[in-house]
Amino acid sequence: MTLDFFTDIAFLAGAIAFVWGLRLLSSPDTARRGNIIAGLGMGIAILAAMFQPMGTVPNNYLWIVGGMVVGGIAGWISARKVQMTAMPQMVSIFNGLGGACAVVLASAELYYFYDGQTALSMGELLILYLALLIGAVAFTGSMLAFAKLQGLVNDRKVTLPYHNILNLIMLAVLLGLTVYALMQGKAFGFNMAMLILALGLIYGFSFVAPIGGADMPVVISLLNSFSGLSAASAGFAYDSRIMIVGGILVGASGTILTILMCEAMNRSLLNVLIGGFGSSGKAGPAGAAGDQVAKEVSLTDAAIQLFYSNSVVIVPGYGLAVAQAQMVVKELDALLEANGVNVKYGIHPVAGRMPGHMNVLLAEADIPYDKLLDLDAANEALAQADIAVVVGANDVVNPAAETDPSSPIYGMPVLQVWKAKNVIVLKRSMNPGYAGIQNPLFFMDNTRMLFGDAKDTLNKLVQEIKNM
Ligand code: TAP
Repeated sequence: MTLDFFTDIAFLAGAIAFVWGLRLLSSPDTARRGNIIAGLGMGIAILAAMFQPMGTVPNNYLWIVGGMVVGGIAGWISARKVQMTAMPQMVSIFNGLGGACAVVLASAELYYFYDGQTALSMGELLILYLALLIGAVAFTGSMLAFAKLQGLVNDRKVTLPYHNILNLIMLAVLLGLTVYALMQGKAFGFNMAMLILALGLIYGFSFVAPIGGADMPVVISLLNSFSGLSAASAGFAYDSRIMIVGGILVGASGTILTILMCEAMNRSLLNVLIGGFGSSGKAGPAGAAGDQVAKEVSLTDAAIQLFYSNSVVIVPGYGLAVAQAQMVVKELDALLEANGVNVKYGIHPVAGRMPGHMNVLLAEADIPYDKLLDLDAANEALAQADIAVVVGANDVVNPAAETDPSSPIYGMPVLQVWKAKNVIVLKRSMNPGYAGIQNPLFFMDNTRMLFGDAKDTLNKLVQEIKNM
């Protein structure tokens, strides 16, 4: 049996681990295991790739191991340090680096081709240009997405008038040049290929520029699928089946996630890409709603109401992540359950800033998964609930999505907290959520505001209940 046979078997095992891991990632109960299994698969694939002979060129182990050590240490440190709320930024950087890898691989292969060292069919050349272009867009697009999410770049400062038309023109020029490169073969030359790369890099930046605000997670997911597709293209160029499988899995899951997020926001992808909503700027504070005044509740009254209720639905949002209040939520939950209160959680698919954000936070606090209700089940429970406790959520509980056709979120399915007998909203101020729009919920008759940092407020509520 040859070495090739063993590397093929190892690649197969790696591919199976990717698919298996991905399957396990579909439930919070098994997600941790899924991550480990997919990681092991990647480890097996890397080891096999190191032993696989690359034609006549010997593997340069110093570079390979050196790169792995540097990348491994950087990845380990950043993964340990990153705050949960900064996870989308981290994902964005990873996507960008994946795209950059595809660019480097494709550039090297194009160099050998134009230098006359290798021969490529038109199909192979096309694959290389795809890896180059998609990788370039994923790279600069993700870097800009990172800068925007981190608050380093203002949406308006990077957006030009008629930006979307400019983008369309740039895309047409890029595609035209690529077709010309394919027709010209070797005569096109490496320098021209690098010109295409430079344009691709500029296009990636420009593609993300007009998109902003609440739409950023959708773009990140789309860029994630781009990075997968660029890796798959590079895999075709290198005839590496494991890269093709891995790239296609990333590409497909990124695409599915993008579609799911758009559906959850009731928007089309095109609408997100032309920057119709997120970058529209923040409206004034929600409290500035004419003469309407939001009513407050004291800590003691809120504690009494909660303690003597039969059923409570807690609706977490982005503020839960900011306050890192998941452990205290669990404490409150345990106290209430001990007094016979039925406590459930209403989970909106786009609550927070990334898919599954709330599930991850609540799983961190070991809140049993069967307490988490999806949108439809939560709305049924809310209609029967004594109290809905909104912890740092805003847009996902905004009734304007159902009642106000002029609202930018009109049509987005929301958690109908106002159908509970009473609503207690935990947030720091009357400021709007990420969409920057008013929330009429805060002014409804059965709503009471409990202002303060969510963790702080919940801690005080727990103390009040313990003292009862
Ligand atoms: P938001 O509408 O962003 O509201 C979060 C609220 O939390 C804010 O109103 C804020 O009010 C409050 N808050 C922040 N820090 C707090 C703290 N320390 N303690 C207490 N409250 C705090 O959040 P949401 O309801 O979860 O909605 C998510 C938004 O992101 C939606 O617009 C959604 O479309 C968008 N989005 C999400 C995703 C994914 S995948 N999750 C994807 C695309 C878009 P104060 O400042 O007054 O405290």
